[in-house]
Amino acid sequence: MNITLRQLQVFEKVARRMSFTRAAEELYLTQPAVSMQIKQLEESVGLPLFERLGKRLFLTEAGREIYRLSRTIAAQLEETGQTLEALKGTEGGTLTISVVSTVHYFAIRALASHCRKHPKVRIDLRVTNRRGLLQLLEENATDLALMGKPPADWDLIAEPFMDNPLVVIAPHAHPLTRRRRIPLAELENQTFLIREEGSGTRSAVEAFFNRRGIAITGSMEMNTNTAIIHGVEAGLGLGIVSLHTIQRELQDKRLAVLDVESFPIVRKWYLAHRSGKKLSRAAQAFKQFVQQNAWQLMETGG
Ligand code: PGA
Repeated sequence: MNITLRQLQVFEKVARRMSFTRAAEELYLTQPAVSMQIKQLEESVGLPLFERLGKRLFLTEAGREIYRLSRTIAAQLEETGQTLEALKGTEGGTLTISVVSTVHYFAIRALASHCRKHPKVRIDLRVTNRRGLLQLLEENATDLALMGKPPADWDLIAEPFMDNPLVVIAPHAHPLTRRRRIPLAELENQTFLIREEGSGTRSAVEAFFNRRGIAITGSMEMNTNTAIIHGVEAGLGLGIVSLHTIQRELQDKRLAVLDVESFPIVRKWYLAHRSGKKLSRAAQAFKQFVQQNAWQLMETGG
């Protein structure tokens, strides 16, 4: 098989985006140039790598094999690059970090503070939900992850670094804000804005209510914390979000935390990475920074 690194890089981009057009844009190439690289790769492999069903593009079985190969090679190239960088003793490199959406407020504060001391580090931050983040870890597409409790059967090094309390929120003037110890059963009559399937917040909330035999009905689904926060503020219903995501809204008296029996749901945030992962110097430094400064960052607002 006579394939080139460039062909694999182009292939990986098309496979990741599942679009020749988007791959071409990201690689600053024309679309015919991308198609040509893929055609040559398919000729060397001797099998088609993509199939188009209707308007959607899919990987063939051979395509999935080549995708695995391209990910392995990309990860090895990156690791070698970082080892060489460390050998040269340069202060810089790229910090690839992925965080679940509830953590991104914290992550941005932490990155801002860290980057003041390490201005040469390039940051590549992905914000996604729990399902998306696990996929990035599986594909070895991130150095560090900040997330809720990692699955027990994954080969990860993970340490908790901060509590993540989930609270029930309402508009500041909502009648329930005047009540104390609201019984859980009363929530059954309320409309809730809930996160999408795949969200760690959503599964924690579902598990919490299931254990107590409470059925939340009349819910609306939204796929970001920000949409839920704005939706609650606009009076669409109640929400359950991480306390860390609503500091500003609480200060400005736009939202209030309800005093509900058995709340908050106490979760933790973890700092995680694959166990065999060779962390770059940039990633090691940021990991240490979070371990040492997390609480202080939250308390002082950065
Ligand atoms: P998510 O993040 O709801 O965006 O998935 C929360 C978590 O898993 O802690």
